[in-house]
Amino acid sequence: MATPDTRTVKSAIVDRYGARAAAQQADPGSCCGDSETSCCAPTPTGPQVFSTGLYAAEHLAGVPLTAELASLGCANPHALADLAPGQTVLDLGSGAGLDVIIAAKRVGPSGRALGVDLTPEMVALAEQNARDAGISNVEFRVGDIEDLPYADRSVDVVMSNCVLNLASTKRDVFDEIARVLRPGGRIAVADVVIDGELPATELAATLRADLFAWGSCIAGALTVSEFSTFLTDHGFEHVDVDIVRRHTADELLPPPRPAWMDAADPGELRELMSHYASAFVRAARAER
Ligand SMILES: C[S@@+](CC[C@H](N)C(=O)[O-])C[C@H]1O[C@@H](n2cnc3c(N)ncnc32)[C@H](O)[C@@H]1O
Repeated sequence: MATPDTRTVKSAIVDRYGARAAAQQADPGSCCGDSETSCCAPTPTGPQVFSTGLYAAEHLAGVPLTAELASLGCANPHALADLAPGQTVLDLGSGAGLDVIIAAKRVGPSGRALGVDLTPEMVALAEQNARDAGISNVEFRVGDIEDLPYADRSVDVVMSNCVLNLASTKRDVFDEIARVLRPGGRIAVADVVIDGELPATELAATLRADLFAWGSCIAGALTVSEFSTFLTDHGFEHVDVDIVRRHTADELLPPPRPAWMDAADPGELRELMSHYASAFVRAARAER
């Protein structure tokens, strides 16, 4: 079973997250207005963001509730990003802008918080949320994290929340992170990862080939070991990939979900999904 090709993946991502942004614009009090996904999983008590409860109250002060509710992340990268006033921070796949808005407040008026996202509707929503927050030291761009629209060595900290797994060509993403970070710059990334190795089964191959599972931040996830290797191969030091949360299969891919999942042996499915977890990834670009 083949992995979906790059063009198909990107087009599905833009369709899916564009629809999310549109639903959020239409009903800002809702999470996303549908029930299809992992990164914004519905609960028995109503829509609830995957990242609910992960942000410190001090970080959320002054952040519009709509930005908080529109978050589709899987953990809180601010918990590991040691930001300082005056820094330039870049958020890869900034979505509705929550992490950029928080970063803008943390780096202060002498710093800048940048967000890049493939989905134009998400960029428009993030700009609206930043305006509502009254924050001006932000800039959002439509762009691809595999070909970043920023100059070499122009960024102090690269952040990201539940996005690297969605990239089609992971090596390009790490090339670009290494290019835009200044020497000594750091990364603070939250992402879904595979703990250990997936079993060599037909079910695992079906999952990895499924476009819906890809868009749900599952099928394209790297193993912990692949994440570390990409970073060390790109000259990063102090690399740390730390699993911080485990998820149930229903959190990762809530119903309604692909037919192959419902048809799978429940024990085998549970074992397969138990490999997926949220992780914090820290590293520093070498000082040269
Ligand atoms: C799961 S959402 C996370 C959004 C945001 N980081 C948050 O925490 O709410 C994934 C986001 O990544 C964006 N994205 C996916 N692939 C991308 C790529 N190759 N380049 C830039 N953005 C991408 C999507 O458009 C979407 O807004």
